[in-house]
Amino acid sequence: MSSIQPIPMKFRVPEIAFPKGWYCVAEADEISADTLKPVSYLNQQLIVYRTQSGAAQVADAYCPHLGAHLASHDGCIENGAIVCPFHKWKWDGEQGHCVDIPYAGIPQSRSLSLTLHPTREIDGMVLMWYHPANAAPDFEPYVSSALQQHKWVLFDSIEWVSTCPYRDLYENLFDTAHIVQLHGASKMPVLRSMEQRAHGLYVDYEIDPSAEQFSMKSLTAHFTGVTALNQLFEGEGWATNFVISTTPLDNERFIEKVRLYVRDLGSKEMNEMIGKPWIERFKFEVEQDFKVLNYKKHLPQPKLCGGDGPIYQYREYANQYYV
Ligand code: FES
Ligand SMILES: [Fe+2]
Repeated sequence: MSSIQPIPMKFRVPEIAFPKGWYCVAEADEISADTLKPVSYLNQQLIVYRTQSGAAQVADAYCPHLGAHLASHDGCIENGAIVCPFHKWKWDGEQGHCVDIPYAGIPQSRSLSLTLHPTREIDGMVLMWYHPANAAPDFEPYVSSALQQHKWVLFDSIEWVSTCPYRDLYENLFDTAHIVQLHGASKMPVLRSMEQRAHGLYVDYEIDPSAEQFSMKSLTAHFTGVTALNQLFEGEGWATNFVISTTPLDNERFIEKVRLYVRDLGSKEMNEMIGKPWIERFKFEVEQDFKVLNYKKHLPQPKLCGGDGPIYQYREYANQYYV
């Protein structure tokens, strides 16, 4: 255990800012049309629920009337309407409009509205759009085609709270030197290609079967902006898919959540044979990373040398999301 304490982020990053993008705020199976799930991310209080048509929706948790938290006390959602616990005003869960004030009738103005956030339900995650200037979404999140095509089992999911500077987390994947030096891999990974796609970055790695414990055929990664990542590993007769999201709680911390899907091999034992070593290796490496990352500082001008990997290339990509 480290005896150092991470110092406040304002001393470790040049400017505290959350990038625009799609942030996971709940798991799809955690929400329903008859409960309000309160969550706190990106310095905001939010509620997550399903509308009457079944769509996932994220809204501000504070009632526009007098600021009650909509999920406090007996605040609820009933027949598609959110009922505030304070004065029982009702808000339409789909559009946000106020649809009833018990002691003043139905409001005439449609502008009296709860703030709803653009929401998508993808690969088991509920994603909310965030833009620092409240602009509308200008890209869509990555949807895994592999997860749609085959039968998978959700083998495990793990989450960590990290105090790493947010922008330095995914950069770690392009810092190839640390993969040998910190993680002890026998060889540095080689990136075959890095390509900008509509959802974000697509990365394809070169596979060296001699350096791999799991006879791997391909490793590809799809980033949704700089807030989520899908890593697909394929081998002879097996595949694993890591669905990863990273969402700031506040200026100091973010949650990294990893869900491991294993392509169903038909029995629990077989799936375990693949899933277990993968999740263990992943967990071990993430925790190894956090031993350093949680205390690091973001250096705008690092002193890089040959062999450090495409860190600047990743930063150039990431910068477009910091508006
Ligand atoms: S604060 Fe919500 S109805 Fe008054
Ligand atoms: Fe790492």
